[in-house]
Amino acid sequence: MKKVYIETYGCQMNVNDTEVVFAILAEAGYVRTDRMDDADIIMANTCSVRDNAEQRIWGRLEQFNLQKRRRKVIIGILGCMAERLKNALTDSGKVDVVAGPDSYRKLPELLKGAEEGIPGIAVSLSRDETYADIIPVRTDSNGVSAFISIMRGCNNVCSYCVVPFTRGAERSRDFRSIVREACDCHERGYREVTLLGQNVDSYNFEGTTFAQLLAMVAEVSPGLRVRFSTSNPQDISDEVIYTMAAYPNICHHIHLPVQSGSNRILEKMRRRYTREWYLDRVSKIRSVMPDCAITTDVIAGFCSETGEDHEDTLNLFRKVKFDAAYMFYYSERPGTLAARKYPDDVDLQTKTRRLEEIIALQNSLSLDSNRRDVGKTFEVLVEGPSKKGNDQLCGRTGTNKMCVWNDRSHKAGDLVKVKVTDCTQATLICEPA
Ligand code: SAH
Ligand code: SF4
Ligand code: F3S
Repeated sequence: MKKVYIETYGCQMNVNDTEVVFAILAEAGYVRTDRMDDADIIMANTCSVRDNAEQRIWGRLEQFNLQKRRRKVIIGILGCMAERLKNALTDSGKVDVVAGPDSYRKLPELLKGAEEGIPGIAVSLSRDETYADIIPVRTDSNGVSAFISIMRGCNNVCSYCVVPFTRGAERSRDFRSIVREACDCHERGYREVTLLGQNVDSYNFEGTTFAQLLAMVAEVSPGLRVRFSTSNPQDISDEVIYTMAAYPNICHHIHLPVQSGSNRILEKMRRRYTREWYLDRVSKIRSVMPDCAITTDVIAGFCSETGEDHEDTLNLFRKVKFDAAYMFYYSERPGTLAARKYPDDVDLQTKTRRLEEIIALQNSLSLDSNRRDVGKTFEVLVEGPSKKGNDQLCGRTGTNKMCVWNDRSHKAGDLVKVKVTDCTQATLICEPA
């Protein structure tokens, strides 16, 4: 049996896609390995969202090709970079197989061809592929938390973003297959599922909305925690917020990417909300669930961003007091509206400085957020031993904060009450409550 090794880059959807790929390949008689050294097939499931994500993959391809000098291996590129670069990858002479996000069912065929020396490429995007019938082969190590993709693609056209080009049009997966997968996870011992989509609030399968889907998944079992990502500020509805509040097993955490605090920049980014709308959504969430964590994504140094626009972003961060954030500086992506229309005119030094200012601010906000939790008690899902070991366990609160505490009596998958005694910027230090 041929052994397959896959490295995964990019977002959680890619992690889940790799699991789908393993399921498709298992069906075709391949086995999974965690060691590149003894793999017959070496693949990377890739991300194109920023230029440095792609540069990293080119670097990895050099490493993969070193293996090829020693023995017979097939090298494959999957995911967003496969979709974006297509035959430029095979033409580089470094890749044997290229498969985009909607073409994974073709992989067994492509690999067979590659074994006979024929490079294979499949990059058509689909209107309806959701891999609904495929039960992913979970690749996480703790067996506690699983990803479930509920939709694919994206119908927004944020001007900086390459995702609509690499993932195609938005389509929602049949809610019955989603609920079936959540039940299956629960039966296999998983205690948490995360529903994934680029814009979960626009989920719609034959009239079933995201709020309705969320309720269905929450009803699978009170012992199954439910998370989701990503919520687009323009689409998050009151129903979703009320549904979160109504089910104790839906985690109180919303990832709500703001991208910029300046209305002028938001418009140029083609985000379809304003700063005021965003702040109103935050107020709504907090009025219904005062304990709900809100996290975000932000881009520093988008085309034409002035010092004042940047101040607006810092300002919004101070106002909202995010619990955590993913922060980037703008990276122009070929083919996007911004690349065609707006010069990438904020110099790298300014981009980096603005990004560092946002990071410094967020670090202090994260620490403040954790300090506010000292003295409180949380129900935490145990993920396993902490990095430090020595009888220390780690696990997350519903608000997605990492806790560590001394404990010999629990194991991964248990729900445990802990009390926060201290904190760092990244971790809540706890004791059993
Ligand atoms: N669907 C999600 C975002 C997916 S991409 C949403 O709409 O919020 C993840 C994050 O990468 C984005 O939120 C954005 O902050 C960042 N990103 C996307 N394109 C980028 C670019 N060209 N340069 C820098 N960051 C980018
Ligand atoms: Fe990209 Fe915007 Fe779609 Fe998110 S909503 S994936 S940022 S186009
Ligand atoms: Fe990257 Fe593709 Fe996800 S570009 S962020 S892996 S959708």
